[in-house]
Parts: sequence; structure tokens; C-alpha cells
Amino acid sequence: MSLSRGAFIVFEGLDRTGKTSQTRRLYNRLTEKGIKAKLIHFPERSSAIGQVINAYLTNAQDLPDEVIHLMFSANRWEHINGIRQEMLAGTTFICDRYAYSGAAYSVAKGLHFDWCCSPDRGLIKPDAVIYLKASSDEAIASRGNYGGERYEKLEFQRKVGVVFDQFCEKESSYWHQFDACQSEENLHAEIAAIVDEVLKETPSQSLAKLT
Ligand code: TMP
Repeated sequence: MSLSRGAFIVFEGLDRTGKTSQTRRLYNRLTEKGIKAKLIHFPERSSAIGQVINAYLTNAQDLPDEVIHLMFSANRWEHINGIRQEMLAGTTFICDRYAYSGAAYSVAKGLHFDWCCSPDRGLIKPDAVIYLKASSDEAIASRGNYGGERYEKLEFQRKVGVVFDQFCEKESSYWHQFDACQSEENLHAEIAAIVDEVLKETPSQSLAKLT
């Protein structure tokens, strides 16, 4: 008898919209219910590629926009086979940022949308994208330590947000938008309700690829 596969749940949104807290809450909820789950965060900064990305984000190193874009994508590719294997063996992955961040941040810098999407084609397509959207980006910018990393500047974040909104509209069959400015508790409850529905469907669906 073949094992049911796990789901691939991606969280996207601008910097400081609460993705990390919400992915942790969801992870705790699933594991408490006895669902085998793992948390992953891109960029995954511990690999050799991840360390270059970290140096870039903390302004210790400069790289051409195209080069850092390809490194973010390579960072996903270096982990994807392991993720696929574990998903097929039944583990659900909760992923904090993915290829949509890759495209959105680079398009906001002026790179071409199709060029940006192309290196990620073939990666696992998420079963759901949980999009945390701030109704007030000033509220987000006032959160502690904002501005510590390269991209945490309000004007730039607004440009990134436009690209996320476009994805949300175009990929509406599996993107779900939530107000990031509500209480952590409410937000978690809304996300949990959607994820429960998604988890009912995924075991019977085969894994798809980003196109
Ligand atoms: P983090 O704060 O979630 O660790 O992400 C670090 C920054 O990297 C954040 O500003 C978004 C950006 N980013 C990209 O530009 N491209 C990518 O592919 C990913 C995953 C993140």
C-alpha cells in the first residue's frame, strides 16, 4: 500500500509581516494533532550558498542583482530533492518564503518577470500559499529591528508587494490572502481553517511542478 504524501504549505509576504511566528504556530498545531510536519525557511543560510546569501543580505558583500537572484534559486534547488523524498514518505512541509519571494524581490529591483521565474521552474508547486498582507505597511515598519537587513526599506517593500499581489490574483486557486495586521491569535485561527481544508485534499493529489 502506498503512503499518503505530505502537503507543501508556503508562507509569503513582505518582511516583518509575521510569517515566522505564524509558521511556528501552524507547525505546533499540526504536530499536536499527530501530523508529521517540518518547518523550512528560505533562504536556508547554513549551506555554502546560504552563507553567501547571508553575507549579501547583511550588506557584508555586494553582488550583481542577477547573481544573487540565481543564488536564491540555487538555494531552493539544493534542498528540494530532500523535501520531495520526505513529502512522499508522508511529511508535511511548512515553508517560510519560496520562489515567489525570489521573483518579487528581483522584479522590484527592475529585473524581467519571466527571467526571474525561469530558474525556479520545475521546483515543487505548493498545495497552498498563505499570503500575509499588511493592511498598513507603516505598522509593519514600526515593528522592532525593522531596517536591519538590505531590503527592509518601505519604498522598496511597496514595490515587492505589488508583485506579490499580482501572484495572488493570478494564482488564486491556491493563494490565500490574510490581513497581517490582526492579532496573532486571530490570524492563526484563520490560517488553520484553510490549512485543515487543504490537508483533506492533498493525500489524493500528485505532486505538481512550478511552471
Ligand atoms: P528572511 O527575512 O525571510 O530570512 O528573508 C531574507 C530576505 O531575502 C528578505 O528580504 C526577502 C529576501 N529574499 C529574496 O530576495 N529572494 C528569495 O528568493 C528569498 C527566499 C528571500
